[in-house]
Amino acid sequence: MQKNKLFTPMIVGQTCLANRVWMAPMTRSRAENDGTPTRLMAEYYAQRVGAGLIVSEATQISRQGQGYARTPGIHADRHITGWQRVTQAVHARGSKMVLQLWHVGRVSHHLLQPDGGQPVAPSAIRAENTQCSVILPDGNQTQQLADTPRALSHKEIPGIIMQYADAAACALEAGFDLIEVHAANGYLLNQFLDIKANQREGEYGGSLENRARIVLETIEAIAARIGIERIGIRLSPLGVFNDMSPEDNIPMSLYLAHQLDQRGIAYLHIAEPDWAGGKPLDNEFRRMLRRAFGNVLVFCGNYDVAHAEHILAANLADAIAFGRPFIANPDLVERMRHSLPLTQFDPNTLYGGDAHGYTDYPTPKTDSE
Ligand code: PHB
Repeated sequence: MQKNKLFTPMIVGQTCLANRVWMAPMTRSRAENDGTPTRLMAEYYAQRVGAGLIVSEATQISRQGQGYARTPGIHADRHITGWQRVTQAVHARGSKMVLQLWHVGRVSHHLLQPDGGQPVAPSAIRAENTQCSVILPDGNQTQQLADTPRALSHKEIPGIIMQYADAAACALEAGFDLIEVHAANGYLLNQFLDIKANQREGEYGGSLENRARIVLETIEAIAARIGIERIGIRLSPLGVFNDMSPEDNIPMSLYLAHQLDQRGIAYLHIAEPDWAGGKPLDNEFRRMLRRAFGNVLVFCGNYDVAHAEHILAANLADAIAFGRPFIANPDLVERMRHSLPLTQFDPNTLYGGDAHGYTDYPTPKTDSE
């Protein structure tokens, strides 16, 4: 068995990465109220460039696609300018970065929507026990239950797909190396895949193939704009977060893996269910995915170095993404490489706020300091 494969270089699409430790997407809610990425965000990501690849926090592709206060956007010039500061800082320190494209669908609230309208979804079915953070008219931020959405009409679907393609073009303008389509964790595309949230008739509902259609059309539309080799996707088979149902997730994921493989997508990123209370994935499923998908395969969820090395050595994955450990350990890769102890993050400073609990965790000394 090869030791320490985690710290060896790899290629994703046409991008070379220094190692196989990816930083997973994590919402930190520190953008401006209008979604503009800040200088503080550039500092945060630049501190974490030990990762071979950084996947940005989920980033809304339109105002309609927003479900939480102060998450960043990628649908206006000010967003592009803000993200350029981030990608320049990351590239200057030698890492690469992906922008995660996000439409929350029904996980939203009318106070976040354009003109105070209803959030949109495949069907008019509310996500149970699902909260959004909103800024009230008096300026205070609070948690609210997600609204009951309205079902998208058939003729609105091309417009949704266009939002993804436009956002992907903006992402390249902002300097990202690749984009990741967020089709996981109960947000819009996952709602279409889900047998319970999607009760549509017609081309986008019913059979497994029909429920998957919008995802494949979205990938094709983005590929036509930026090239298939710059596209990754995130799925969350067996995930239950945001009121998803695990039923038929395994055949759905394998179908998508196969279809995306045929189209030549750069990578498939699997958010494992146990981070949010789902039943864990097993190696039999990982093997089936491996057979269905020939390009870069990445898993994420509660990994430590030993488990990551085990999965890489068994050739079940090409890279492992780490999320929460990166929060309090900006130098996570160095700590893992040298088996140094990890700092625990403060759960009170995860979402929103300022530099505290964001950029003030101890950072590594670099040669230039
Ligand atoms: C969150 O903001 O809680 C969140 C965002 C994106 C995810 C999962 C969770 O994929």
